[in-house]
Amino acid sequence: MAAISPHGGTLIQRYEPDYDITGIAQELELDSFALSDLELIGIGAFSPLIGFMGKADYEVVVRNMHLADGTAWSIPITLPITEEAAGTLEIGKQAKLLYNNEVYGVIEVTEIYEPNKLAEAEQVYQTTDKDHPGVKKLFERPDYYIAGPITLIKRLPRNRFETYYLDPKETRAQFDKLGWSRVVGFQTRNPVHRAHEYIQKSALEIVDGLFLNPLVGETKADDIPADVRMESYEALLAKYYPRDRVFLAVFPAAMRYAGPREAIFHALVRKNYGCTHFIVGRDHAGVGNYYGTYDAQLIFRNFTEEELGIIPLFFEHSFYCKACGNMASTKTCPHDKEDHVILSGTKVREMLSNGITPPSEFSRKEVVEVLIRGMKKQVNV
Ligand code: ADX
Repeated sequence: MAAISPHGGTLIQRYEPDYDITGIAQELELDSFALSDLELIGIGAFSPLIGFMGKADYEVVVRNMHLADGTAWSIPITLPITEEAAGTLEIGKQAKLLYNNEVYGVIEVTEIYEPNKLAEAEQVYQTTDKDHPGVKKLFERPDYYIAGPITLIKRLPRNRFETYYLDPKETRAQFDKLGWSRVVGFQTRNPVHRAHEYIQKSALEIVDGLFLNPLVGETKADDIPADVRMESYEALLAKYYPRDRVFLAVFPAAMRYAGPREAIFHALVRKNYGCTHFIVGRDHAGVGNYYGTYDAQLIFRNFTEEELGIIPLFFEHSFYCKACGNMASTKTCPHDKEDHVILSGTKVREMLSNGITPPSEFSRKEVVEVLIRGMKKQVNV
């Protein structure tokens, strides 16, 4: 079965655990955000990128959502360093990439440049407000970007959900083994509530398999921690999903909260993992009120089907309707708002941390039990 082509045509593979680093004198300390980007480039999740972006790619991505060669790409993948560190680096030479004093990779330094972060914030996040978690992060990180191809030498430490860490070449092999030619990817940074389940299962009606791919890299402090979420996914899948139609694996990336821009990025990356379709619901990758409810769907109009190469499946805001007696959206339900069970993420987190069970129309009891237990543990730490 011909698997879907990775973005740019080749699945990049830059993991070389035996890479010889003797003689490389230059060193750079990474933050956890850059560390996850390094790994994702190395394993091909960010194909066709082979390293951190140079100025030409960066500027076109920021301005126009493409790489300099015209390939669609919506989020800058950059490596910020301080002016001081920039002063110590020599262009044309390699530098070891360290985290907690361990070498995780090597970069061949091709360029060091000063980005226009205000323009980056305005274009990528559509706001320069530092209360936006992605913008906050952007400005907190150092002010120079270093570019060049990387080699990944060491894999990141994994938590107890080790078996759910699969590289794009492995998920592709799994989908092939399962005989799936149409696979829908689902991004989430949350527990799977009834609305998520509804849109996943609606999609599952028209494809062969669901790739449940929760993001487990850096998220903002008030998002539910990845290990608690993992346990909740296991509890849900065990009871409510057909075992042979769902594949759970983590997406070890940092969350950018860039809404529409991140929806495009999430879709392209899931294509690299082997998905043919990708779910985009309400306010995908959004935060607060920075983006319109369906902006992350509308942005797809800026691209042709060919240049993205993965089919987005758009879903309306979904909810449980008491009058219908089932899950629905405004596309399928004629009733008033009073009949709809809708809770904000903030409200749900507040309920959970107070040990209050959200209604079963909002979230399955098996999921809620795991979340309440998880939140209690957090408080007790
Ligand atoms: S995200 O930041 O990872 O997008 P979340 O985990 O809440 O946040 O959403 C995962 C996916 O489900 C996104 O595509 C989002 O648009 C969609 N989604 C979340 N809640 C709803 C809802 N009530 N109705 C329709 N789509 C939803």
